[in-house]
Amino acid sequence: MTIFRGSRCDVAYSVPKLANYSAEALEKASSELLAALEKEGAAVANESDWKSFRDRWMARKNGVLTQINDIWLKAAPKDAKREVGQRVNELKKRVEGSVNKAESVYKTSSSATEKSLSSDRLDITLPGIRRPLGAEHPIIKTMNEIVSVFRNLGYSVEEGPEIETDYYNFEALNFPPNHPARDTQDTLFIAGQESKPLRERLLLRTHTSPVQIRSMEKMKPPLRVVCPGKVHRNDAPDATHSPIFHQIEGLAVDTNITICDLKGTLDHAMKALFGSSVKTRFYPSFFPFTEPSADVQISCIFCGGKGYRDGGRCPNCKGGGWIELLGCGMVDPNVYAFVDYDSKKVSGFAFGMGVERIAILKYGVDDIQLFFQGDVRFLEQFG
Ligand code: DAH
Repeated sequence: MTIFRGSRCDVAYSVPKLANYSAEALEKASSELLAALEKEGAAVANESDWKSFRDRWMARKNGVLTQINDIWLKAAPKDAKREVGQRVNELKKRVEGSVNKAESVYKTSSSATEKSLSSDRLDITLPGIRRPLGAEHPIIKTMNEIVSVFRNLGYSVEEGPEIETDYYNFEALNFPPNHPARDTQDTLFIAGQESKPLRERLLLRTHTSPVQIRSMEKMKPPLRVVCPGKVHRNDAPDATHSPIFHQIEGLAVDTNITICDLKGTLDHAMKALFGSSVKTRFYPSFFPFTEPSADVQISCIFCGGKGYRDGGRCPNCKGGGWIELLGCGMVDPNVYAFVDYDSKKVSGFAFGMGVERIAILKYGVDDIQLFFQGDVRFLEQFG
């Protein structure tokens, strides 16, 4: 307790001897005592202050009450004893009242501060907050898997811009201006380019095939590259279509490359991705930049190519036993002309596959939109 709080000249109260036992002298001594009591009581701020306050005034041994009992009452002459006794009892009540009051005052004020502090307090015994670990996105995961199959065959990885010129996306791939094959790959053109020649106009690439051209411009044969990346089409989103998706392009150019190399390479890649029992089939198709061109189909991984399962038609291959997966072909000699390769000396093959389509099959996903919605409940299954 800070008895000297306030003016430095304050001296702690001590019980004086009474000069006489007149009513005035008693009154004066009592009011001095009460003034000291009030002052000291008001200075109590915490438990230890309060204990010293209580002991100073109420301790049996030498407390102020014991002192007034000894110094005032016991010492009083017989005829004053009654009056002094009443006074001392009265003071005793006042002291007890003050001590009780000081106790409740410091308790309520300290519990208020405690409350205001408790919100800042850290309880280290509470269970910690788990930070969820991120998982590789299924598209990136599938892309890496496909790329690694080809890396193991000696292919390197090339990338190209997502915003392409008409020249790389179409013209150098043997889609001449106004050729109907362009209509199969409708895309978004950057606005306000009417003053530029068509081949320089920018668009969101519709496939990764332009990276074939960029790679051949950069490197001389022999060349073996895979080109993963994002592509865009003007397609309305539904369970099997998305205006944004991913492809992996492949290109191998060397002397004496034949369609057997193409078939052997893709057959190996499909077995590496879907299991060694998977069969491949090459179905005639058309792409402007390959001649001949083919669609590659794999035997249905859900029904083992039988076309039926669980006593009915297989819903995945619609009973056909085959699933179409990618496009491919032998590089059209017209394409070599755009990149200064001598089509009499070199030959090569190319292929392009949709990553979402492969991921859908591998992971049994029934809606392509799930890949783009960022729903953690879906994504964490691939962790
Ligand atoms: N670019 C084609 C598409 O997006 C896919 C493709 C087909 C790529 C045949 C090729 C290829 O390299 O040879 O539909």
